Amino acid sequence: MKNVDIRKEIDKLEGFLSIKPLYWDFEKGELFWIDTRLIPWQETYRSTKDYRRIAEAIKEMEIRGAPAIGVAASYGLALSIINSKSRKADELLKEAESAYYILSSTRPTAYNLFWALKRVWNSISDLEDVEEIKEKALNEAHKIYVEDVKNNVEMGKIGSKIVENNARIVTHCNTGALATAGFGTALGVIRYSHLEGKNLHVYVDETRPLLQGARLTAWELKKEGIPFTLVVDGASGLIFSRSMANMALVGADRITLNGYIANKIGTLNLALAAKHGGKPFYVAAPTSTIQKTENPNDILIEERSGEEITSIMGKLRITVDGALSYNPAFDITPPELIEAIITEKGIAKKPFLGEIKSLLSQPF
Ligand code: MRU
Repeated sequence: MKNVDIRKEIDKLEGFLSIKPLYWDFEKGELFWIDTRLIPWQETYRSTKDYRRIAEAIKEMEIRGAPAIGVAASYGLALSIINSKSRKADELLKEAESAYYILSSTRPTAYNLFWALKRVWNSISDLEDVEEIKEKALNEAHKIYVEDVKNNVEMGKIGSKIVENNARIVTHCNTGALATAGFGTALGVIRYSHLEGKNLHVYVDETRPLLQGARLTAWELKKEGIPFTLVVDGASGLIFSRSMANMALVGADRITLNGYIANKIGTLNLALAAKHGGKPFYVAAPTSTIQKTENPNDILIEERSGEEITSIMGKLRITVDGALSYNPAFDITPPELIEAIITEKGIAKKPFLGEIKSLLSQPF
């Protein structure tokens, strides 16, 4: 696809998005993104031409959510290439390799990060013309952006079939527009079901310690006019044992071929609570989140600074001075607790191995 065509396609897609979490400015040649650390207090966009700044924005969680991380990183790698002064292809590719390394060292669990960087790299690694490398790298980043939005809408459409009218859904973390290039994954399914006219109610886990549920999911649901109730992460046991909700629906940072899913810490507790209450636990994620492994030990779990849990948003200390803390950012939910995995290519059910492999082999 030529740059002119992709620009038209991006303009069309962006016209339809109610929240634009990150986008390429064609005039300035810069990536813009909304700083999600400041939501719901401020809606501030940041921008850069420097891939190092994008790596920082991902690491510091200005940009977060596995698909958004992947899209931002692909633009980061493209920026490192288009702004390089190298006149020789081998020098340019060497520089790009070091940008690749810096970008890939930001958030270790989000599989989309590695998937997206590899895609940009594979689109240029055999080329010998500097101008062609620049054009192809940026074009690949645009394609990843466009596909992410389209896949999310498709996932919303497919996933909405399992969301009944009057559904009461528990969700965890933020899987909406703010976690993707637009529309969202699990929250995209909820958004699509709402747009179909279904009457829904969402229980939003606050999502300790960085409050992606309380800050981001609540902000998105309010904007869309979708009714919700904020709860603490520990409330899901009671909610499911009293049948106050009839399903759980979350996203994923990584999925194995046999259906283990890594997602925000607390997701496993939610799955156990849903199981205890006899209610289904669903996952929605694009196929770009799937790692071709059957071993859950291949999933790297990010550990973040203890300060995130010993204080509220780094501002108010909430424990004794010197308290030891352990802050894994993700946990792994095993396939036996999962009812189905919704992707843009269809829904995978148990046993997951065959179904996920067959989804992966389908063209979109
Ligand atoms: O640490 P975060 O905020 O990047 O964690 C995000 C999640 O856990 C999401 O559920 C996941 O990335 C899927 S987002 C569509």
